[in-house]
Amino acid sequence: MTVPREIAQPTGDKTAAQFSVSPSTFQSPISSSSFMASALAHRSAPKQLKPFNTEDVKILLLENVNQTGQDILRAQGYQVEFLKTSLPEDQLIEKIKDVHVIGIRSKTKLTANVLREAKNLLVIGCFCIGTNQVDLDYAAQHGIAVFNSPFANSRSVAELVIAEIITLARQLGDRSNEMHRGTWNKVSAKCWEIRGKTLGIVGYGHIGSQLSVLAEAMGMTVIYYDVVTLMAIGTARQVPTLEDLLAEADFVTLHVPETPETKNMISNDQFEKMKTGSYLINASRGTVVDIPALIKASRSGKIAGAALDVFPNEPAANGDYFTNDLNQWGEDLRGLNNIILTPHIGGSTEEAQRAIGVEVADALVRYINQGVTTGSVNVPEVTMRSLTLDEPNHARVIYIHRNVPGVLRKVNEILAEHNVDKQISDSKGDLAYLMADVSDVKQDDIKNIRDSLDSLSSRILTRILY
Ligand SMILES: NC(=O)c1ccc[n+]([C@@H]2O[C@H](COP(=O)([O-])OP(=O)(O)OC[C@H]3O[C@@H](n4cnc5c(N)ncnc54)[C@H](O)[C@@H]3O)[C@@H](O)[C@H]2O)c1
Repeated sequence: MTVPREIAQPTGDKTAAQFSVSPSTFQSPISSSSFMASALAHRSAPKQLKPFNTEDVKILLLENVNQTGQDILRAQGYQVEFLKTSLPEDQLIEKIKDVHVIGIRSKTKLTANVLREAKNLLVIGCFCIGTNQVDLDYAAQHGIAVFNSPFANSRSVAELVIAEIITLARQLGDRSNEMHRGTWNKVSAKCWEIRGKTLGIVGYGHIGSQLSVLAEAMGMTVIYYDVVTLMAIGTARQVPTLEDLLAEADFVTLHVPETPETKNMISNDQFEKMKTGSYLINASRGTVVDIPALIKASRSGKIAGAALDVFPNEPAANGDYFTNDLNQWGEDLRGLNNIILTPHIGGSTEEAQRAIGVEVADALVRYINQGVTTGSVNVPEVTMRSLTLDEPNHARVIYIHRNVPGVLRKVNEILAEHNVDKQISDSKGDLAYLMADVSDVKQDDIKNIRDSLDSLSSRILTRILY
């Protein structure tokens, strides 16, 4: 028997028909965790949805997306095409025409030019941290949600910083470089244990708070400064100002986002306020530290060392690019003692890649199967409890629309003939996302609801899952 496809009508310029997919079960993507699995076992059984056409979902994964992500998507029954590399624009345009989902990392540029050809595309998964390789506005305006994984590598960064604290305190970088040059230089002067020293964390978010735990475990005293008042972990202590932190810390480590407020947050004045012989670590963003000021503070002996993982200008590819052509002070920096320079590897571990694979693939499954947008970077974040077996004739209506007055009234007029069990709506700029579960609906009802929603001028995309 051929199972009918449920069609989600395309946006204005999308000509090819799109289908809205329904999974065989509303399997929770986080049910892989045993805790969640046992918690879910006590709830109502998930609903067997029809039509069951997850095999029709076409996914293109580029840039060697981690195996963990591939496995999650394949386990859903989706058709997954996997490529190790990115694609040049002409080939990308050819491939993207067909797919409902694309998974990329940082090299694939999803410009408006490319996305215009993506007639069936529902969602983009960026299996990385950043999303500036995607035209987020264009995607949003065409009902294409974008997901990424901003925090999966927090632990990796925190561990790198721990390594750097010890490396700086013991001048390991310099000793190792000397040995590589054939020089034996055994010194203990100005080499320290880290036990009992004070670590000052600027920005107590995902990375800063992980680091706090690790540093305390090694006998450090932890203080932190954040624009938000945050509960301390362990015996760490929040200080009221950056100046307080700089005056007290033996090691200052930066974990703030790149914003106008954090640009050159550490410059001449701040180096002045730091303890003589203290250390600076920056694995946040390159703009946060004024590098010429750091060079000055290092030459004067104000700071005893620094570790930099991020830079104002970073090369797009690996190679011999870390020169004055990239940043005018590049060679001065390279000539300093006890300065650790790493090529933005804070989050670059196998574990982080695996975690990113899981997080983004889970988000894609949730979006495809349930319409949940939690974690999306370009559409309003909306979540709603799953349908269950106790609700056999229910359908989930998803309506992405322009955020103009009167839409909700019109949508509710369309849904008014049915019992709306639950409904949620949120907006972000001129885009809005509505989800409603309606009960006691038949095939004809579903078609009518869809046709009526599609006829509204506010419509960007309609999907109905049932
Ligand atoms: N080196 C790497 O490879 C790597 C990897 C991941 C993240 N990062 C960077 O690390 C930084 C921190 O990441 P996260 O995941 O911990 O972010 P997060 O959003 O979880 O935490 C940032 C914290 O900084 C605080 N903050 C914001 N502005 C501030 C200001 N002006 N002064 C003081 N505190 C301020 C916020 O309140 C928040 O608590 C980001 O810049 C991120 O881009 C680097």
